[in-house]
Amino acid sequence: MIDLSTKYLGLTLKNPVIAASSGLTSTISNIKKLEANGAAAVVLKSIFEEEILQQEVMQTREAEANSMIYSELSETLDYIDLHIKEDTINKYLDLIRQAKKETLIPIIASINCTTDYEWIEFAQKIENAGADALELNIFLSPTDLSERNFEQAYLDIAGKVIGKTGIPVSVKISPYFTKLSRVIADLSKTGVRGLVLFNRFYSPDIDLDKMEIVSANHFSRENEYLNSLRWIALMSKKVTSDLVASTGIHSAETIVKQILVGASAVQVASVLYEKGVDYLSVLLADLEKWMEDKRYTHLGQLKGKLSQESVTDPAAYERRQFMKYFSGIE
Ligand SMILES: Cc1cc2nc3c(=O)[nH]c(=O)nc-3n(C[C@H](O)[C@H](O)[C@H](O)COP(=O)(O)O)c2cc1C
Repeated sequence: MIDLSTKYLGLTLKNPVIAASSGLTSTISNIKKLEANGAAAVVLKSIFEEEILQQEVMQTREAEANSMIYSELSETLDYIDLHIKEDTINKYLDLIRQAKKETLIPIIASINCTTDYEWIEFAQKIENAGADALELNIFLSPTDLSERNFEQAYLDIAGKVIGKTGIPVSVKISPYFTKLSRVIADLSKTGVRGLVLFNRFYSPDIDLDKMEIVSANHFSRENEYLNSLRWIALMSKKVTSDLVASTGIHSAETIVKQILVGASAVQVASVLYEKGVDYLSVLLADLEKWMEDKRYTHLGQLKGKLSQESVTDPAAYERRQFMKYFSGIE
């Protein structure tokens, strides 16, 4: 019997495969399907700070058009603002409550945020609704030219949320920092229990026939796991937060590689969109088979075995240039 269990955010997971935050984790029926196919935990679709604000503006405009409110009645406006926000939030809290009631796996709520106000109060509500943990998907736009200490803003958001909630908090980040190692180490010191490396973003492309901008990369490809692999290898033994691999995990072999470099777990989204939620059970069966064939009995035997500190050539993870590789190529 192979023991696939692992610890993440202080929670015991029956295996290392978590359903990443996506449209697949936004309804109770999907969450139950993910559990039935072996998901060790589910990160709910993020509640977006942007979305709440946009919804507020749209509904306020609609109300104005319907002459429901008058500009001089600012208290009415305040009430409507509050009401709209609460509606979005309440739906999210209901999903958490329902998921906790109808499944046995850990339910991780997710907030997509860019500032450190407003939604910090949500963190408490999310905890009260029964979520086992909270993942903060923090993304400050690198194109924002206004004066701000970019990296510090991430630390401030994480620190403030941790101070407001008793449940474990993880932070999902992009790889786009000037000094990524510093950001990972500093975030870990804030008391964040987990770091999800990395988020993946929409990329615009151009359709030359239509002369239009189109979305190029809805889903990851299977070779996109390499950046997470490198950074988890580099950082897993240097930080106290659990590291979770995200992006490009499409096979059991990739899961094994991420655990070998020190990941506590992995998160999957694209592969489930492309191959169906049922594919989770295939990934888990393949993982078990791989371990059985190699005579491993529990996942802990793999964890961190090939992190930077554990390999004979630690520089291999730092190498960036292909000099040697290309030197023999005409
Ligand atoms: C359709 C779709 C919706 C997503 N929505 C969210 C979201 O709401 N919040 C979030 O943190 N990540 C979201 N993601 C990102 C995924 O959680 C994941 O980090 C990313 O897709 C990389 O993993 P993958 O290669 O397994 O897809 C979404 C991804 C997809 C494909």
